[in-house]
Order: sequence, then C-alpha cells, then structure tokens
Amino acid sequence: MRRTDLVAEGWNSHPDAPRPGTFLCVLDDIPDGEGHEFRFGAGPSALRVFVVRRGRSAWGYVNCCPHNFVPLNDQPDRFVTFDHEWVICSVHGAVFRYEDGVCEDGPCAGRALERVPVVVEGRVVRLAA
Ligand code: FES
Repeated sequence: MRRTDLVAEGWNSHPDAPRPGTFLCVLDDIPDGEGHEFRFGAGPSALRVFVVRRGRSAWGYVNCCPHNFVPLNDQPDRFVTFDHEWVICSVHGAVFRYEDGVCEDGPCAGRALERVPVVVEGRVVRLAA
C-alpha cells in the first residue's frame, strides 16, 4: 500500500492495521513530552504510527507528514521539538499540535496529521475501540 493510498483511504484500511483495543505500550515506555513509533507489518509497506505523550495524556498519529507524505522523523522516536512544545517534521520543519495534529507553522499550515485514536487506561496505552 502506497502512502498516498493510505492518506486517501485512512490508516485503518491498511492491511496490517491493528484492531481496536490493541495494546501499544505502558505509558512510562514513552518519556513525558516525547514520542514513540509503532510499526504494524514488515518492510517499507508497514503501517507506521507514533504516539506522543504529555503527562497522563497521549495522542496517536500516522507517521506521515501531510506536506510530502513521508515519515516525520529522521531518527528513531524523534517526533517533537527540543522544548517539547510541538510535534515536528524533520524534513521541512512543519510543527503540529500534540492534541489534534494540526500544523501551526510550516509548508502544510492548517492541514493535520491523520489521527489514530488511542486511550490511556491506568498506565496502559491502547488503540481506542
Ligand atoms: S515533508 Fe514534512 S514539512 Fe515537508
């Protein structure tokens, strides 16, 4: 599945998309203010999702920048600015809000990351039902 197909059809149409309720991690596996990537499937066609955390809240997104449809990170699990204020795309520096993935500044301002709904239950992070 190409990234542009993923964008057109949504993350849960990916053949390796996890089922609702899938366990992702324990909240403490993601340092406060940071992000962590999860891959579903193998190779270049794997579905890449990342979760960013602030305190006891977490938000999930497809790891695909709405500017050029490429992964945001250039290093493993590097998804945020150094001050932990923004999710950032390493390619052209677009910055996105943690809470809804909307791009506040950069070449795709006003567009948004594709949300992957997650829930925090106690200390467990799962895909939402
Ligand atoms: S590819 Fe992400 S800002 Fe250009």
